Amino acid sequence: MESLRIWGKHPLSGHVTISGAKNSALALMAGALLCPQQCRLNNVPNLVDIRRMSQVLKALGVGISQQGNSIEIDASNLTTSKAPYELVSQLRASFFVIGPLLARLGVARVPLPGGCAIGARPVDLHVRGLQALGAQVRIEHGIVYADVQGRGGKLRGAKMYLDYPSVGATETLMMAATLAEGESVIENAAQEPEVADLANFCRAMGAKIRGAGTNTITIVGVPSLHTTDYSIIPDRIEVGTFLIAGAITGSEISLAPVIPDHIGPVIAKLQEMGPEVIQEDLNRLRVIPKPLRATDIETLPYPGFPTDMQAQFMALMTLSEGNGVITETVFENRMRHVAELVRMGADIRIKGQNAIIKGVPMLSGAPVMATDLRASAALVLAGLAAEGETLVKGLHHLDRGYEKLEQKLLELGAKMERVAPVDS
Ligand code: EPZ
Repeated sequence: MESLRIWGKHPLSGHVTISGAKNSALALMAGALLCPQQCRLNNVPNLVDIRRMSQVLKALGVGISQQGNSIEIDASNLTTSKAPYELVSQLRASFFVIGPLLARLGVARVPLPGGCAIGARPVDLHVRGLQALGAQVRIEHGIVYADVQGRGGKLRGAKMYLDYPSVGATETLMMAATLAEGESVIENAAQEPEVADLANFCRAMGAKIRGAGTNTITIVGVPSLHTTDYSIIPDRIEVGTFLIAGAITGSEISLAPVIPDHIGPVIAKLQEMGPEVIQEDLNRLRVIPKPLRATDIETLPYPGFPTDMQAQFMALMTLSEGNGVITETVFENRMRHVAELVRMGADIRIKGQNAIIKGVPMLSGAPVMATDLRASAALVLAGLAAEGETLVKGLHHLDRGYEKLEQKLLELGAKMERVAPVDS
């Protein structure tokens, strides 16, 4: 397993270019299945998860060609409605193809994505919504079988209420409703920027969608969609991660492109801790480090504080003056980075969903193990600030979600190297 060796306490400086949003790209790649013509997605980050989603689409008969950060997706001739287990089990987001497959073909066979390090990750809200849209859905041997009987295999518009504003369920159901007969409404919908980006992509293909980005989304079905050439929004979680890289190393760095509104809660909490975040022009931010004061954070659905920034913020809070509390309300098991940060000298105690962080004057480098994508980012950030050498193992987690993270950090002046697996 590859590792990253980091020599801490080197200040950073300069400018970092932010890649396209992973969680947008994955949803939009599924959305391209809705279109019977070739589409083009630009600003797609070059990540393991993107390559995995490409494999899932190819298994469905989709033509895929990637040039740099652009992907041509040709779903004009879907050859099957069955997504392969060995691919879906590696990438939870590939479950989102169920909505477009059902909308296009009137049938879908998609394996349950299963749980992961951060939680059970159920799909009951996706299933209940598809049933409301007129699909018969049953789950047997870990496979979700969905079929539309009658009406020529067309879904019918419906009013759906999500018990929880699930990002994936909102995206699955919004995609399915674009080709349904009649009007659909999704209430208590997720408001994340990636949901709005998916809606804008579908509208660019001719879908009729209103209200994406709010908690109520209205979709009027259309017979078919058409080609488009679409650029994905910048990754707000990568922005947040680099803002913290500056704050935790006491460095002033700038970042672009950024859509500041997408990362408002992180900017607000970072400024509450002391650092300044300045908007330099429409799409550029600069972070100016300041002595760190503790604060409290509760992760919530957008526009609340994003759960995908929880681990990275915890790394920062280990070095702040005073005590802070982080409450994780979105996922049931997203505190596995705590034990690793404690190995580096952090003072953190877990009580249920809460982590109580007592600031310490310094962290000390140590060998640590990444357990999931954002935990790996948090450990890299801690390594940048720690005295001495940190070895972050489990780097495959990092490669799933960050494009060229170490190159970007090296260009900012960080000292690190990727270490090949010792057993190779
Ligand atoms: C998306 O996951 C993101 N992934 C996650 O990012 C992100 O953490 C999450 O949204 C929350 O913002 C992608 O977009 C590919 P949810 P998703 O459905 O859609 C429960 C990262 O690090 N739930 O909003 O799977 C669920 O158990 C990843 O980039 C149900 O109960 O998240 C969880 O507790 C990690 N039933 C809560 O909702 C359902 O049918 C939020 O999950 C669906 C979800």
